[in-house]
Amino acid sequence: MITNPVKRPMVLKARLPLPRPRNIGSRRPRWGPLGAARVTLPAVSRSYHVTTFGCQMNEHDSERIKGMLESLGYAEAGSRSDADLILFNTCSIREAADSKFAAHLGEAKRIKREQPGTVIGVGGCWAQSVKEEVFARFPFVDVAFGPGQVHKLAEFLTSDSLTAQGFFEFEGFTGHLPAKRARDFQGWVQISVGCNSVCSYCIVPSTRGREVSRQPGELVEEIRRLADDGVREVTLLGQNVNSYGRDLPRDCRITFSELLRKVDAVPGIERIRYTSPHPKDMREDVIRAHAELPALCEHIHLPLQSGSSPVLKRMRRTYTRERYLDRVALIREHVPDCALTTDIIVGFPGETEADFAQTLEVAEAVGFDGAFTFIYSPRRETEAATMPDQVAHEVKVARMERLVEVIQRRARERAQRFVGRTVEVLVEGPSRNDPSRLRGRCRHNKVVNFDGLGEPGDLVNVEISAATSQTLSGEASLLARAAG
Ligand code: 5AD
Ligand code: SF4
Repeated sequence: MITNPVKRPMVLKARLPLPRPRNIGSRRPRWGPLGAARVTLPAVSRSYHVTTFGCQMNEHDSERIKGMLESLGYAEAGSRSDADLILFNTCSIREAADSKFAAHLGEAKRIKREQPGTVIGVGGCWAQSVKEEVFARFPFVDVAFGPGQVHKLAEFLTSDSLTAQGFFEFEGFTGHLPAKRARDFQGWVQISVGCNSVCSYCIVPSTRGREVSRQPGELVEEIRRLADDGVREVTLLGQNVNSYGRDLPRDCRITFSELLRKVDAVPGIERIRYTSPHPKDMREDVIRAHAELPALCEHIHLPLQSGSSPVLKRMRRTYTRERYLDRVALIREHVPDCALTTDIIVGFPGETEADFAQTLEVAEAVGFDGAFTFIYSPRRETEAATMPDQVAHEVKVARMERLVEVIQRRARERAQRFVGRTVEVLVEGPSRNDPSRLRGRCRHNKVVNFDGLGEPGDLVNVEISAATSQTLSGEASLLARAAG
């Protein structure tokens, strides 16, 4: 296990009457560095509620949090007011996320006033970015921890300490903790934490630290265990997945494409996804892997951020518009039908009308299958927050509307290529709008609603009869083989 030498839980506040699950008081769980939890704790009737904000990395941490709490005898509560332990796994990527979270915390405060025994915890990137300030701003918070510090939460809950505590030093991966998967047949595997890039808008380097890759042997072992447990689709997670491995010791150093090959060879894993790669590190070996590895899906999420080279330069993205377009051309050369999605920020400081027109042009030229579009939001302690020429909010909003129009129109046009085709769908459950139909995703990561039979986790061939920018619609095929 990779550990940080600093192990200093900060004791931040004087005594608090924290309730503890009574019958496990002094029996702390010990989490082995590689194996599963070594102590089985007796069941206690305590309940938890977890709210997750932000990215898939956070969703994944929340699965670990839930799995860990359940192994401590906690059961999931239907609502916050029914829970003994209220947790928030926070994000700090945008200002909006912060304010949404503050409103939820207000509700937790009210619950705690009515039921003083309630324990309130705040984890994740926002907690990490404000550290001990969380206790000053929200004195009713009992425990705070940074991303990946799930094991510290266990330590806190089972300790005899009556003080509120914050845990913000990275001490290793949580891959060995039990996880409660949202869907039995899908698993997320964190392959690295942190990020060595210094994108000038991004708070992540300051919240998640330098990049640290997990050992390949450990990862493959974990994926094997997931497959044995019924997982058919894995998503490899990291802030910059395709720079994976560069920090590993020489004797076990492998590249991201080599890791993909190892995962593809795990029996039972039928779909591999990953997020997010960085265009600067998108090399031909990874692109070829999409053509060569049967389990690797025909979808790449390749964050563009801006279509203007001068803006990209100020964002410190280290690639140009031409390099990005060149990567897209290479992807389409090797995997012509590959779905491409992206992230775009509008209104970065100094973005002129001409810069923005370049972003529209790239969106038009590439024809993304989908995009997450963000209004630039200055984040504390980032370089861009203090750059001159911040763009007025109304200008940002107007540009966003124009961008969304192009993105949606191109996505709708691109989606028409599926009409008349048969695609393989991994069933997730009933369709959200019409429960008499089923919903799932095809390998291109499009949501597919369809008429037919199937259980969550089944692979079903679906004939597509209609497509919008976001979803495909069709009917289960009677043919045995999918052509999608
Ligand atoms: N403002 C707006 N969007 C941002 N993103 C990251 N930081 C900011 C910010 N300060 C977006 C990027 C990134 C996605 C996860 O969030 O597009 O790829
Ligand atoms: Fe994820 Fe970044 Fe938000 Fe953290 S700040 S939860 S890494 S998107």
